[in-house]
Amino acid sequence: MKKLFSTGSLVFLLVAGAAAADVVWMDTLDLSLMRQGWGSAQTNRAMRGGPLKLAGKEYERGVGTHATSTFWIDLSSGAENFLATVGVDEAANGPATVVFRVTVDGHKKFDSGVMKTGTPPKSVDVDLKGAKTLLLQVLDGGDGVGFDHADWAEARIMTSGRAPVAVAVPVEEKVVLTPKPGPQPRLNGPTIYGCRPGNPFLYRIPAQGVRPMKFTLSGLPAGLKVDERTGVISGKNPSTGTYTVTIRAKNSHGTDTRTLRIVSGETLSLTPSMGWNHWYAHYDRVTDQMMREAADLMISSGMADVGYSYVNIDDCWMNAPKHGDQKRVGPLRDDQGRIIPNQYFPDMRGLADYIHGKGLKAGLYTSPGTLTCGGFGGAYQHEAIDARTFAEWGFDFLKYDWCSYGHIAEGGDPKATNIPTWGKGAPTLEGYQYPYRLMGGLLRQQPRDILLNHCQYGMGDVWEWGAAVGGQSWRTAGDLGFELDRIFDVALKNSEHRAWSGPGSWNDPDYIQIGWIGNARGGGLPEPCPLTGNEQYAYMSLWALMASPIFFSGDMTHLDEFTLNVLCNPEVIEVNQDALGQCGSVSHINEQLFVMVKDLEDGGKAVGLFNRGDFPSEVRASWSLVGCSGSQVVRDLWRQKNLGTFETEFKATVPRHGVALVKIQPATAGTAKRR
Ligand code: GAL
Repeated sequence: MKKLFSTGSLVFLLVAGAAAADVVWMDTLDLSLMRQGWGSAQTNRAMRGGPLKLAGKEYERGVGTHATSTFWIDLSSGAENFLATVGVDEAANGPATVVFRVTVDGHKKFDSGVMKTGTPPKSVDVDLKGAKTLLLQVLDGGDGVGFDHADWAEARIMTSGRAPVAVAVPVEEKVVLTPKPGPQPRLNGPTIYGCRPGNPFLYRIPAQGVRPMKFTLSGLPAGLKVDERTGVISGKNPSTGTYTVTIRAKNSHGTDTRTLRIVSGETLSLTPSMGWNHWYAHYDRVTDQMMREAADLMISSGMADVGYSYVNIDDCWMNAPKHGDQKRVGPLRDDQGRIIPNQYFPDMRGLADYIHGKGLKAGLYTSPGTLTCGGFGGAYQHEAIDARTFAEWGFDFLKYDWCSYGHIAEGGDPKATNIPTWGKGAPTLEGYQYPYRLMGGLLRQQPRDILLNHCQYGMGDVWEWGAAVGGQSWRTAGDLGFELDRIFDVALKNSEHRAWSGPGSWNDPDYIQIGWIGNARGGGLPEPCPLTGNEQYAYMSLWALMASPIFFSGDMTHLDEFTLNVLCNPEVIEVNQDALGQCGSVSHINEQLFVMVKDLEDGGKAVGLFNRGDFPSEVRASWSLVGCSGSQVVRDLWRQKNLGTFETEFKATVPRHGVALVKIQPATAGTAKRR
């Protein structure tokens, strides 16, 4: 005979004739601490609110969650075992694939293998004797997290000691690794810059060090001049050719020199573009005022001094047919067919001028469809006038977001007889390319250098043709804001397209969402991002190694010391801006550890040692894996510190979800200096 009674979260199970064992049901722990890819953990319910149901059987107790899901439990002492029945909930309603994993003190103790809708449930019985931490995870089964509704049914911990408690991710201090820049000048930024003959030239020399600083340039081609105080170079792009300019920056603490090759020709964005985009901070709340403030802060925060230069408006600057805020509602176009900005953007030309006045560049956004993703006026059938208007206003960057164009591509406009569509048939390559080729050609005709970012989430393998149809970068996947807990997966997928990375041609895995960001689901107000400090270092290191465009998309008015140290380490940025433009190649050591190696123009290699596992782990980069031999000088790029000379390998203990980012150079080439 057994009897159950409960006090708070503890349920005592008395079994007649046996020693008392305590049961702590998982559903009584603080489930608000469970991190998961969609929605929030459900107590004794499945994700859609119905009963927990596996293979036809309903379970009264348990936890409904959604991949990828992570739950940490501090076992205190005396835990005996963890028991559960796991599987994909019947209400998943689609092709779910998940993996349940139980990890005890860093050792994997249970792995369900890939479970799909319909896979019979599996029993879990894991020994916990002597253990301190229990980690319960539901991972994506390899095809993204769509439909991944997962149940821990009848999940419980048997214990004869103190009650286990749920904890947020293991507490990690955010450590500022990057030393503060010194007072003396330090010239940063790319070593190569592309432009097209005859168009306006604008380039603010990125330089750290106390101001006033004097910039003296030699070798500057005719038609260009530098403001000696601000370091802003302006004028008219020179005729076709390569011009090697020597830049000298001097202040009361010292001098620095560096060369910049200005290549006037056809190719723009010879290095990945860098800047700020409003989307993940302000969504449909964006205003002209926010954009100006962001430009001010790009200068005053020091971001521009390491190379950030584009200040880009995303969606929602135009009028919308309907919107909750009446100031954003109105006619989409005027009598001449020109797009009408909404009331928060009273003077687009004035805004671009304001940004240019600081030596920075201005970007904006539209869609080839009738409406943007946010439901604002798109460019459909007004492409030519829009390209001209954007150029006249003075914008330097266009993000062109597929959105409602899908309707047109499917043959939704019977009048559009000249547009390749696929009706009800399979999408055609031409159908994917058409709107981008059209806008690419129109931008090319404008008397400005305007970068084009194809935002269509990787459809039709855009990396293979994005440059040919006039783009300089292209998103390789959907919105990273929905997948911030999958940064490693998203980056690894992006790096598979490394063959198409190079000067003027960049794979874009979306923005840097650190500092304060608004939750992408619902466009929330900015709040501190959910990533740990180590995750943020890994994120930025991946973007640097992959030569991805680096657009910070957090709130510029909430830039704290830690965020700025992640964003503004010039040695890390130098990896991103390297003139070879190579995307690093990945070697997997095991499921959790991998190394990414990027060749640099100076013969060195940038190497990231990554640990996507949940416990610190040693990661080894052998010279055969790095692709070098003999004595190598290794420099820690986040700490800006030489670590010594190594003969056969470099290894480091890498924290949970973290990175060690180093530069490796043959010892014979001297020390691992910056340049
Ligand atoms: C999405 C795009 C986002 C953002 C948003 C604006 O399609 O991927 O980056 O631009 O639209 O509505």
